[in-house]
Amino acid sequence: MATTELIELAIKASEHAYVPYSHFPIGAALVTKSGEVITGCNVENASFGLTNCGERTAIFKAVSEGHKEFSELVVYGTSKEPISPCGACRQVMAEFFDQDMPVTLVSKNKTTVVMTVGELLPYSFTDLT
Ligand code: THU
Repeated sequence: MATTELIELAIKASEHAYVPYSHFPIGAALVTKSGEVITGCNVENASFGLTNCGERTAIFKAVSEGHKEFSELVVYGTSKEPISPCGACRQVMAEFFDQDMPVTLVSKNKTTVVMTVGELLPYSFTDLT
């Protein structure tokens, strides 16, 4: 699927965001190597630390449905600059994605930046030995 279509899916996913506290909706569209697209949005909680970001929602949905190989992630935020994923999401990306997998970051006005997982989190913690 073209990245432009994935951006539209991420925007649509952001419309389901549960953001009564931040009012900052995020949507993500994650592509599996088999070509499926799994979307996610941020889901907040009155106990703020329990909030799940849009990226992690998409990744956890995908993994829980049996997907383990991914080719592309698009993240849309209603920010002026292309959304910058939080550290927790970068670490979760490093767990499941190849270092060279592209992540397209999108702003409210659809400006994009493409970064690899390795660029987003260099020297990530992945190996317990
Ligand atoms: N958030 C995401 O969902 N993804 C990001 O990349 C950055 C932050 C969410 C968490 C919270 O619901 C809101 O944005 C404000 O931090």
